Amino acid sequence: MVKKLVITGSNGLLGQKLVKLFKGKVNYEIFALSRGENRLSDKKGYHYIDIDLLDKKILIETLSQISPDIIIHTAAMTNVDACELNPEDCDKMNIEVVANLIDYCRDRDIYVVHLSTDFIFDGNKAGLYTEDDPACPVNHYGLSKWKSEELLRSSGIKHSILRTILVYGMVDRNDRSNIVLWVKNSLELGKEINVVTDQLRMPTYAEDLAEACWLAVMNEAQGVFNVSCNSLMSIYDIAIAVAHEFGLDKNLIKPVETNALKLPAERPVSTGFDLNKSVNEINLPLYSFTERLQVFKDQLDSYNSL
Ligand SMILES: NC(=O)c1ccc[n+]([C@@H]2O[C@H](COP(=O)([O-])OP(=O)(O)OC[C@H]3O[C@@H](n4cnc5c(N)ncnc54)[C@H](OP(=O)(O)O)[C@@H]3O)[C@@H](O)[C@H]2O)c1
Repeated sequence: MVKKLVITGSNGLLGQKLVKLFKGKVNYEIFALSRGENRLSDKKGYHYIDIDLLDKKILIETLSQISPDIIIHTAAMTNVDACELNPEDCDKMNIEVVANLIDYCRDRDIYVVHLSTDFIFDGNKAGLYTEDDPACPVNHYGLSKWKSEELLRSSGIKHSILRTILVYGMVDRNDRSNIVLWVKNSLELGKEINVVTDQLRMPTYAEDLAEACWLAVMNEAQGVFNVSCNSLMSIYDIAIAVAHEFGLDKNLIKPVETNALKLPAERPVSTGFDLNKSVNEINLPLYSFTERLQVFKDQLDSYNSL
């Protein structure tokens, strides 16, 4: 039986990967929802709907017309500093839209996959974070995503929450950069960059996150799942690895401490994930950062040679 799948935020990094991944699977009719024109290059094999998700009436009407079986909700206000500076806008997008989706899904047999973040933690734990560790966000973005998680948990609807860390990958016509592209593009231009040594992360290849969403859908997994690579590294070391992989000048990467950047939003210190639950319950494959960086480089090379 063909299942109707809604992907919100289809112009975003993860949203684009999800549309591409699910298009290749049989038995899904895909409805890609994002604002403005469709920025995916390949426009075939799915329906694109230009929508402002903040408009509850239009959102509910659109969903009622589609009558989805599954919703993967990737859309969010994801710029951490913008969320800090505009907390009301952040709450509207990251909390109220989730509440509106819940209103629609309640009393209907719909399975929801929601995306959340390592930023629900303060990053001061000595070891890796499990799905059950208590949240303690240090910035407004993290708080908004935690509140959205809480709404889902108390909603009674069938859902999973995939938490992820520092996602990177290639996007079609999207202005938003990510750690790997930022380092690569800056070094290629011969630009010096300041990179923090005192924040540790497990970066996530966008394709792997999309795959994890698919695994969640396949298993109709319920609850919270950690999704990332299994290498915990400082952001500085991530940048050095990118320079190494792409054969660029490491001397352009200047080590700094977070305080020196004077960013509006505080960042958690170390946010590594314990991935055991995801491996055991949804068969999440484990990859190191350097392993996936090579795959990403190959992907970029083949894209550039087209
Ligand atoms: N990227 C990361 O490092 C990271 C880390 C942890 C968790 N996450 C979570 O993972 C999810 C996906 O992240 P991502 O990196 O794919 O984010 P992204 O690239 O910023 O994509 C989000 C998409 O949502 C769309 N959107 C935002 N507000 C909208 C609105 N009112 N109406 C319609 N569309 C709207 C954006 O549209 P525009 O393109 O027009 O702005 C964008 O295309 C998010 O829930 C995020 O919180 C991401």
